[in-house]
Amino acid sequence: MSIQLEDYYPRETFQKMKAFADQHETPFVVIDTQMIAQAYDDLRAGFDFAKVYYAVKANPAVEIIDLLRDKGSNFDIASIYELDKVMDRGVAPERISYGNTIKKARDVRYFYDKGVRLFATDAEADLRNIAKAAPGSKIYVRILTEGSTSADWPLSRKFGCNPDMALDLLILAKQLGLVPYGVSFHVGSQQRDIDVWDAAISKVKVIFERLKEEDGITLQMINMGGGFPANYIQRTNSLETYAEEIIRFLKEDFGDDLPEIILEPGRSLIANAGILVSEVVLVARKSRTAVERWVYTDVGKFSGLIETTDESIKFPIWSDKKGENEEVVIAGPTCDSADIMYEHYKYGLPLNLASGDRLYWLSTGAYTTSYSAIEFNGFPPLKSFYL
Ligand SMILES: Cc1ncc(COP(=O)(O)O)c(C=O)c1O
Repeated sequence: MSIQLEDYYPRETFQKMKAFADQHETPFVVIDTQMIAQAYDDLRAGFDFAKVYYAVKANPAVEIIDLLRDKGSNFDIASIYELDKVMDRGVAPERISYGNTIKKARDVRYFYDKGVRLFATDAEADLRNIAKAAPGSKIYVRILTEGSTSADWPLSRKFGCNPDMALDLLILAKQLGLVPYGVSFHVGSQQRDIDVWDAAISKVKVIFERLKEEDGITLQMINMGGGFPANYIQRTNSLETYAEEIIRFLKEDFGDDLPEIILEPGRSLIANAGILVSEVVLVARKSRTAVERWVYTDVGKFSGLIETTDESIKFPIWSDKKGENEEVVIAGPTCDSADIMYEHYKYGLPLNLASGDRLYWLSTGAYTTSYSAIEFNGFPPLKSFYL
């Protein structure tokens, strides 16, 4: 397997990032913010009727928050810490939702005191907390979805509830003085099967209809979460195809009279814009006759590459060394044997690769810096630079 850079970055963009990288000590992520701006515009063009709530967890850098704030994005927030960060950048509470279904009552209160009025839930106890701590707020209930086998990073088991329970919760929300506002789902991150949205939207439709007919509750919003693709080794459909198909599913179920539609992209906005630049620490074989080489780099699972767990996300790795490729195992620098990124999926790297050479991990703008450990084995958190 050899990586073609032009499949991932415009030539000038890569040259600019590489020239910057050449001036800095590894490891670090360098991010081209223009690519993020473009990804945001492409998403808006694909779904011109939808509101975008950027999932800050993907990369909470102030440079990205500021860029998306100025482009008019809203923000999906997971904790009081993200909330403080985003509000410190001048984002108004009307542009924020508390999208985490797992939260302390006092954190709900904190959001409410800051002016946030849009909350996700998927459980009765949480809903009752919201009713007390954030009275009168808008509620959307997250439902379980299929698709955990076709998403590279599934999210569908831990969050959400069965549609029948969503009905109960939305009715209870009304009884508790809250506004039963809508339904959300997340089909799993890096979801490669677009049809999974079809099944999820159909479930939402049933909830909308049942509530209207049986309980006189008119829901107003569908939050379709994230799940849109980044550009990794395994190809996906284009974003345009996702948009065309998902809009078709929406229209099939809701006609032209669509409710408010929210998208919560993280990965698809940010990942492609980043390159993680690392250095080879050691190349070794485990026996005199071993064919396979182990390549140890100065980044690993604990410095931003946790999504290589189970080899779930297969980042494209590029080297400027030329020559014959041979299969390698790729591992990180810590004294932890879990710190192996790829062993079963065979990456090929040049035979002449040696200590001190650089490896460029493409499409690593999302879920790398935010996942990096702060001091495991003494290594500092992953640095990042924004061009
Ligand atoms: C509630 C919620 N919304 C949106 C996202 C972003 O999803 P993605 O990165 O697939 O776009 C996540 C990711 O964990 C999430 O938990």
